[in-house]
Amino acid sequence: MTVMIELRRSYTPVEELPQSGDHMHSRNNGHNELNVREIRKHFFFRKDRRTVTNNAATTQVPYDLLRLHASLAKRYENVHRGQSKPSQEITALLEESYQTVADFLNAPSIRNLVFYRNTTEAINSVMYALLTEFRNGDNIVTTMMEHNSNYVPWYAMCRDILPRFGVNVECRIVSFDQESGELDLDHMDRLIDSRTKLVCCTGASNFLGYKSPISLIRELSRGSGYSQPNGASGSYLLIDGAQLVPSTPVDVQQMNVDFLAFSFHKMLAPFGTGVLYAREELLDSLPPFLYGGDMIAEGQVHPESVSYNKLPWKYTAGTPNILGNIVSAQALRLILDFALRPDRGSYFRSDKKIDKIAVKLAMGKVNSYLQWLTQEAMIRMVKIPGIKIYGPVEVEKRAPLISFNINGINPITLANKLAERGVEVRAGCHCATLAHHYLGLDPPASCRLSFYIYNDIEDVERAVDAVKCVALPIRQRTLFSYLKNYEHKLRGIRRII
Ligand SMILES: Cc1ncc(COP(=O)(O)O)c(C=O)c1O
Repeated sequence: MTVMIELRRSYTPVEELPQSGDHMHSRNNGHNELNVREIRKHFFFRKDRRTVTNNAATTQVPYDLLRLHASLAKRYENVHRGQSKPSQEITALLEESYQTVADFLNAPSIRNLVFYRNTTEAINSVMYALLTEFRNGDNIVTTMMEHNSNYVPWYAMCRDILPRFGVNVECRIVSFDQESGELDLDHMDRLIDSRTKLVCCTGASNFLGYKSPISLIRELSRGSGYSQPNGASGSYLLIDGAQLVPSTPVDVQQMNVDFLAFSFHKMLAPFGTGVLYAREELLDSLPPFLYGGDMIAEGQVHPESVSYNKLPWKYTAGTPNILGNIVSAQALRLILDFALRPDRGSYFRSDKKIDKIAVKLAMGKVNSYLQWLTQEAMIRMVKIPGIKIYGPVEVEKRAPLISFNINGINPITLANKLAERGVEVRAGCHCATLAHHYLGLDPPASCRLSFYIYNDIEDVERAVDAVKCVALPIRQRTLFSYLKNYEHKLRGIRRII
């Protein structure tokens, strides 16, 4: 059912969309993929003079989505739980949100989707769904560059949960090249074998920035020869898309992954919604993660038997984050508008069908603009004395984030000083704890700048200049106290001689 309520607006046909170059942004060196000046008008931070460069943690929310959220109060009701007009309308809007997300990902159907709170919950749901399928002697393969959300659940499953049932499953970890930050695919090839039920890999590392070669990893996992209980051959592939989906065109059918998880709060939406995409036959056959109301077939609960609802509702036990899910799906429509036509959007709050060509075009622009910004930042940053930038040199291999350390400076001190200058970065291990230890970083921390579609070249310059201004005096002080210390020691030695 499509509800034509005031949420809706009319839309511009795809043919009328501007071609790349119709909108120029000043100071983008001819790199006119996004009209950032227009996009920035939709955000609060512009007025507060914030330099928002911590987008890998979370992105800012545009006015449009906050207004939309407020407007939904008019039909505030639960879904699938009422006969009133507001209940019918909000139910229809929620169901349409599934279609928007499915179209954005080019998923075959809404039956491929589950809404969760975030990437972490989506990945945990896969762990719990597959838990009972693991056999003694199986293994899972993950990588040294994972966010803790895609490592700790698997560690816990192998070390804490399955051993309680007498099942031993090994968790294998693929290493990466310490210099280039690229995954060691030969190592992955060696670790994957005919007992590998699942390969869990990040789509893009939130520390190294490195984007994994998903098609190669898929080949390795498919070719493992593992025999799944449903008769399929090969290991399942789960991709953590938290840093991939916000900035890259993603077509799940082309990627041919079994599971993909991501969070909307890293792509303009408010906190609280993430998505799991999975192949339909898997969602159909696997047990749900949560049980309760709405996930059961109408009236089919008896003392001796319970039948589950059809997909995707089999996975919606309890009242969902209704407004959050609707607003999150609309965030995808807004990103399409921002990329294609920020001055006269056609997708946001309309019932315009999202087709894969428009997504490819829009997300291609987002990707190429963010690559350009990242490159501009890297060009400036490599000149800072004592800096070490982690991850690949080539921006095509990177998500739009740059983690770095400066010799002799604690990254947390650096980030605090940057914050005093209004430059927002994150310092710490970014939950990529394994990778920080693997690189021998002490403390296990780095500083990270990360960009999104509202950042402009001035943000990059302000952030990098601030890093320079803050870092140089600290380095000079450190060098000075080192020399003083050295001189003191020399004097002591001379006295002894
Ligand atoms: C690569 C990656 N995976 C998973 C997550 C976890 O996302 P969430 O906190 O939304 O569950 C993040 C968040 O920073 C991330 O960067």
